[in-house]
Amino acid sequence: MELSDVQADITEVLLTEQQIHDKIAELARRVEADYAGQRPLLVGVLKGAVMVMADVARELKMHVDIDFMAVSSYGMSTESSGVVRILKDLDADLSGRHVIIVEDIIDSGLTLAWLKANLASRGPASLEILALLRKPDAAKVDVDVKYFGFDIPNAFVVGYGLDYAERYRNLRGVAVLAPHVYA
Ligand code: IMP
Repeated sequence: MELSDVQADITEVLLTEQQIHDKIAELARRVEADYAGQRPLLVGVLKGAVMVMADVARELKMHVDIDFMAVSSYGMSTESSGVVRILKDLDADLSGRHVIIVEDIIDSGLTLAWLKANLASRGPASLEILALLRKPDAAKVDVDVKYFGFDIPNAFVVGYGLDYAERYRNLRGVAVLAPHVYA
């Protein structure tokens, strides 16, 4: 679905499909260089990371493995508590693997901090993070993101995997959700 199809629900277009595509190509070139001769394992968190995963994986001119995890945060749905429960674990064994966590957005960074610690305990040869979007608060948490795409303002955004009440994930771009939608 195009951003123009939901024009009444958004206040500002942050990223077009083309901008996202160009940035992902740029990040993929860096991953190819950094992992030359390796076969990294891309780990995505459902469901938000599905679009980034699909595009990053297809952009990479190398063999990769893909795996997904589903997690849920306890507590309020609008704010991350940092307490995470695994709903679906990975199929892959991480020991000795070069793992790249593929994320859609880092807001508080709490989910990612938890995930990184969890995966690190499984004995990977290396563990890095690729995230398409980063909000200002993410800077407060000490999670080292090796590959990241765009810094965005502190607004609720939808599209390209990101939802509001499960809607808008299938938008090709990223936009700020209009307040009247959640009022
Ligand atoms: P964190 O633990 O606060 O970094 O939360 C990260 C998760 O919250 C992301 O993976 C998204 O699923 C969700 N999230 C954070 N900000 C937004 C947003 O602006 N729109 C949609 N989902 C968001």
